[in-house]
Amino acid sequence: MIEILKKEQLSSDVYLMKLHAPHIAQSRRAGQFVILMMDDNYGERIPLTIADGNEVEGSITIIFQAVGGTTLQLSRMKEGEGISHVLGPLGTPTHIRKHSSPVVCVGGGIGTAPLYPIVQAFKAAGNRVITIMGARNKDLLILENEMAELSDELIICTDDGSRGRKALVTEPLKELCESDVPPAEVVAIGPPVMMKFCSETTRPFAVPTVVSLNTIMVDGTGMCGGCRVTVGDSTKFVCVDGPEFDGHKVDFNSMMSRMSSYKEQEKEHQCRMDA
Ligand code: FES
Repeated sequence: MIEILKKEQLSSDVYLMKLHAPHIAQSRRAGQFVILMMDDNYGERIPLTIADGNEVEGSITIIFQAVGGTTLQLSRMKEGEGISHVLGPLGTPTHIRKHSSPVVCVGGGIGTAPLYPIVQAFKAAGNRVITIMGARNKDLLILENEMAELSDELIICTDDGSRGRKALVTEPLKELCESDVPPAEVVAIGPPVMMKFCSETTRPFAVPTVVSLNTIMVDGTGMCGGCRVTVGDSTKFVCVDGPEFDGHKVDFNSMMSRMSSYKEQEKEHQCRMDA
């Protein structure tokens, strides 16, 4: 059992959990994720990015939104209780390098959580980092203080204008691409539609754009094919080839259609949890 060391509610349905996982804490790198299983035999496996880690304490931090049956079940667990299985670190770490122009990191909603260690790593490599955070409203923004502390510039956008600019994240992103010092690289993490439009925004400017995909996963080892996506002319597995890919090459439409195929089962599971 993996012990829950700390639990905190960040917004109405977003939770932070610190888990005791010393081996993962020691070897994890920015961009990697874990797969959680709540039940020994029949549990759904959910991939969650490692938002932070502490080698000394032997802990990793995950941030998740209670949107389906399993995440709802996880959100109801308490400090001191244990999760059946946590597998990781999985996936290919983010390719971090030092650029002479700024790196722009874009986080949408819960996507800000996996973006956090990436911003940390780009800063540690000596980059100027501009972070754009977006959410539907101010109550759904997470890690704002942490991102403000870490980033050279923080731009906040909300759909309703309750905090920062009333705009989609693509608006400031386009302005930065048009500026005298365009970004050397953009990293966008959030809902698939947001990553798609961030990639479409940077495409005309030929600004390299990395997206981190969070598809359905089963084994997490490249065997089941559940996480497959089309990238350019190839089929890739998000669990072993990703989770990060060139946003200009990802076929977002087919990915979104595959991700919606289990909506009914998801709803049914959630109803069972609520009953
Ligand atoms: Fe099975 Fe990626 S989760 S191949």
